[in-house]
Amino acid sequence: MQGRLHDPPRKVNSVTARAGANIALVKYWGKRDLRRNLPAAGSISITLADLETVTIVEPREGSGGDQFVLDGQEQDSDPVSRVLDLLRENRPACRVVSRNSFPTGAGLASSASGHAALVVAGAAVFGLDIDRVALSRVARRGSGSAARSLFGGFCELHAGVLEDGSDCQASALHEPAHWPLEVVVAITDSGPKAVSSRAGMNQTMDTSPYYPAWVASVDDDLDLARKAIAERDFEALAAVSEHSALKMHASALAAQPGLLYWNAGTLACLHAVRELRAAGVGVFFTVDAGPQVKAICLPGQSGRVAATLAGLAGVERVLQTGLGPGAGLVSA
Ligand code: PMV
Repeated sequence: MQGRLHDPPRKVNSVTARAGANIALVKYWGKRDLRRNLPAAGSISITLADLETVTIVEPREGSGGDQFVLDGQEQDSDPVSRVLDLLRENRPACRVVSRNSFPTGAGLASSASGHAALVVAGAAVFGLDIDRVALSRVARRGSGSAARSLFGGFCELHAGVLEDGSDCQASALHEPAHWPLEVVVAITDSGPKAVSSRAGMNQTMDTSPYYPAWVASVDDDLDLARKAIAERDFEALAAVSEHSALKMHASALAAQPGLLYWNAGTLACLHAVRELRAAGVGVFFTVDAGPQVKAICLPGQSGRVAATLAGLAGVERVLQTGLGPGAGLVSA
């Protein structure tokens, strides 16, 4: 899984890459270095098969800067340019065309899959032979969680301790086949979220009295989650994952002004997931910087969970997916 992604083509006109979104079970929320975008603590995630970004990068002939088109709409290209600049100095201007298979910017990790697909395609266009770990360090500069979409299945992002961030990178924990968990995403508001995760975590760091306690607690959660995943202990993973998500939101709720990412549909889903689990269904919840609820299910149990969540007031629709591979090239 680790190692070379591809043999870099010699002359490249256009490269297409894909990356699955990922969902953190032990959350990343807060940074140790804003400029280098270094997380204050590690995180553990699962990479999804069917919520994906497909990105085409092609060098632009002639003059003009970078261009970025997302879901058919021309966007500010600066964030994309900054990431491409990190891959190679003196690079050609590029046209980047990206499409998400799911709602963009609604707390469904589109920035994670987007940046992961971008670095894979960009590296190929520039003829670079870079391994996944190194690419995860570049993707991290665009969005911390993006580092995790370089790997499939179960993945850990290490906070590292070095000032320059050279040890802040992702690594594989297990392939999807180790434990083919299923995921139901309950969409309770498909519009863009009011406060981005970047702004939300900055506000939490600056103003929440609970932020130091949150950061101090993450290492223990990482140990518990790593062990639960290795042993396929669903009960233990459910406990630590729900704890991490609720604790992250508690720190955000205690910011000034408080960050309330949930709506009525979110809360209905959280209660329904707990009721299903009490009734013997293998399911737990997690929530990111948005109102959608992600229900993580034991293999074979997502059908029942999807049917229950889809029937709740406040749920617009549900998506179902399994675990998928790390980011990679589609064609070159
Ligand atoms: O990678 P960012 O800057 O979009 O932050 C991600 C933050 C959360 O999604 C809330 C948690 C996580 O670890 O993915």
